Amino acid sequence: MSLKIKVLTRFCHDVVESKGLSLFLEVETTPDSAAEPSGLAQIMRVVFRLFLAMMALGLPLMPALAASSNGQAVEPAIRFLPDRKLWVLETARTSYVVGLNEENALQHVYWGERLSSDQGLQAAHTAREVTSFDSTETMSNNEYPAWGGTYYNEPSLKVTLANGVRDLVLTYDSHEIRGDDLLIRLKDIRYGLFVNLDYKVFPAEDMIRKQAQVENRTTQIVTIESAQSGVWYVPPGQGYRLSYLNGRWGGETQLTRQPIFPGKFVIESRRGNTSHQLNPWFAIDAGGEADEHQGRVWFGALGWSGNWKLVVEDTPPAHQVRVTGGYNDFDFSWPLAPGETFTTPPYYGGFSASGFGEASRLMHRLERDQIMPGHPHPALRPVLYNSWEATTFNVNEAGQKALADKAARVGVELFVMDDGWFGQRNDDRAGLGDWYVNPKKFPNGLKPLISYVNGLHMHFGLWFEPEMVNPNSDLYRKHPDWVLNFPDRPRSEARHQLVLNMARDDVKEYIFGALDKVLSENNIEYIKWDMNRHLSEPGWPEAPVAEQKEVWVKYVRNVYEIIDRLRAKHPNLTIEACSGGGGRIDLGILERVDEVHVSDDTEAFDRLRIQEGFSFPYAPRLGMDWVNDVPSTNGRSTSLKFRFLVAMNGVLGITANLNKWSQDDFALAKQMVDYYKGVRETIQNGDLYRLSSPRESDLTANEYVAADGKQAVLFALLPSQQFERPAPTIYLRGLDENAQYRVKALDNKRRERAEVMSGSFLMHHGLNFELTGDFDSTSVVLERVL
Ligand code: GLA
Repeated sequence: MSLKIKVLTRFCHDVVESKGLSLFLEVETTPDSAAEPSGLAQIMRVVFRLFLAMMALGLPLMPALAASSNGQAVEPAIRFLPDRKLWVLETARTSYVVGLNEENALQHVYWGERLSSDQGLQAAHTAREVTSFDSTETMSNNEYPAWGGTYYNEPSLKVTLANGVRDLVLTYDSHEIRGDDLLIRLKDIRYGLFVNLDYKVFPAEDMIRKQAQVENRTTQIVTIESAQSGVWYVPPGQGYRLSYLNGRWGGETQLTRQPIFPGKFVIESRRGNTSHQLNPWFAIDAGGEADEHQGRVWFGALGWSGNWKLVVEDTPPAHQVRVTGGYNDFDFSWPLAPGETFTTPPYYGGFSASGFGEASRLMHRLERDQIMPGHPHPALRPVLYNSWEATTFNVNEAGQKALADKAARVGVELFVMDDGWFGQRNDDRAGLGDWYVNPKKFPNGLKPLISYVNGLHMHFGLWFEPEMVNPNSDLYRKHPDWVLNFPDRPRSEARHQLVLNMARDDVKEYIFGALDKVLSENNIEYIKWDMNRHLSEPGWPEAPVAEQKEVWVKYVRNVYEIIDRLRAKHPNLTIEACSGGGGRIDLGILERVDEVHVSDDTEAFDRLRIQEGFSFPYAPRLGMDWVNDVPSTNGRSTSLKFRFLVAMNGVLGITANLNKWSQDDFALAKQMVDYYKGVRETIQNGDLYRLSSPRESDLTANEYVAADGKQAVLFALLPSQQFERPAPTIYLRGLDENAQYRVKALDNKRRERAEVMSGSFLMHHGLNFELTGDFDSTSVVLERVL
């Protein structure tokens, strides 16, 4: 009886899934169903499965089951085609197909525009071995290739077994479909080492998330030497182009493009956090054929704030470009005990047939709808004032109150006190680690300042740098063993600070407790979580030697855990992640923080390039932008209006020293803040169209279109004009051709004076502006009237 049930279950499993009725499958084929039912229950199950099988075969027993409750046909996002052993993952406009080849290995089949039917799809076939040097394994696009057999490309998994075997060959074991989730279980051909490949489809965002979980079902420790989240393949061919982001402190997220040549191009971090230098995002287009508005673009991003790696590999002879991503295997080792699992970071991928602009909008939608705190309806970000550039470490109650008064006058909603309020923190040489309020600067604690700020109808926020300690601190004097270190080796300082070993549970608990105390005692609704150096000498002498390299991963997991616990305990808390500006920007931290500090370079002209690169993967609402003082540290001066209009392309913040502002400055700032409040919903939740790039033109133009299409806002920023050349015409996008829009201008720089214009006029005739000289700027709002 039990044998029959199993056979029947598998039969139903395949057939039912092929008909898209995976709902029933879930109920009937959970892995736990191995437990033997008995008596009547067993018979009932058999009958029910027969019923399912008949229905799945097309017998019209209950056709309504294939439809949703509102009668609409349900298009399942994931289908299994048993005849061809293919899984088809579908989003609104894309298809992603994997299947089993003759070796029972999982192979990539297709990723691109949505296929209108399954007709042409064939079962996955291994590539033909051309020579003994180009093996079948290496030439076939294995969906999750382990290092073993004759596989020579970048592996997704490399292990050493306790008996010294370092060969791993993964084949199909089982699968399960649950709504938009697909789990494919792979198993080594000999040992009890399993890999659970977890796919999540985001139909509306045209994106898929991959994540792998390694499971040790052997009886001995398996040492993982490389654990990747997976591989994204583009169609075979030559001439692809890679877009990625690089930079430095004070110059993050610079978009760079280059051809993909045979060999490997690696972008990575070995610094313990995401890094300013490279960001875990890529986009690939065919031969540079794509631009902002058209062309095929494949893109992906990792959600991990520690050591990560993306390997862009072009392997001849088939010229197959693939991007493998996951934990950086540099200095990596993870002993996995019997019964344990190890999970890789989420690795997102998407496809756009409408250029880089659409690729970005899909990422932005994913972040807002699926990733960031409060999704799918994250709250609007308030206008912020941060006193850092006004006061640096020189904070005290009276000074902060004076700034708060002025910030409130211009309409600021969130007042943040930055570095300098705690311990013996008078400069960057002391105090980190001592999270008690400095009694000289705040003799009555923070409460009087916070209630003052709240009385001005502003929220209050506070700066922390939890992972760090100055050697000149009470914490370090008490716990010198709490920092990352190798015994008898130097402890390298950067900005006079050392890095706490956040992988240690006692350190984690201390930091959680210290922050929790300050948050519990005060009405703090926002923290800026900073990290002002990278990890070095990552030793963990107290851990067994074999486990010491786990520090890289455990460090980040514990940082995540602290943030998650703080948020759970303080539900009103919002968080900005900062690492000397934009050193920690990725989809992992963005699951748990509301925004990030884009850069310490707050100068408006530099910021245009930083903002543009940032916006390729990250929604503008995730980036905090400050209006600073001029001349900036780079010596450049721009008008207050220009600085405001640049900073509005994200979350608007101010850091200028308000004590130095004139009455005119206050009046302009108030007007600008009001203007931003009128359009911020569109900027923060709408679609971004990059109409003119600071890399390619004198003019930077960004347009945001509200989700409901009722409002659009345009920013036109001209850093410099030469030869009195008129600023280029700006052609709007994303509007309704037939709709009418009332155009409200911020100033009188608009040449087309009509009050109401059609979508087709705005998009095809375009708008022209009188922009002259240096650092001129303007903005218009379009309100749909018909
Ligand atoms: C980093 C941050 C700044 C500021 C300082 C304080 O550099 O990026 O915004 O908070 O630390 O020390």
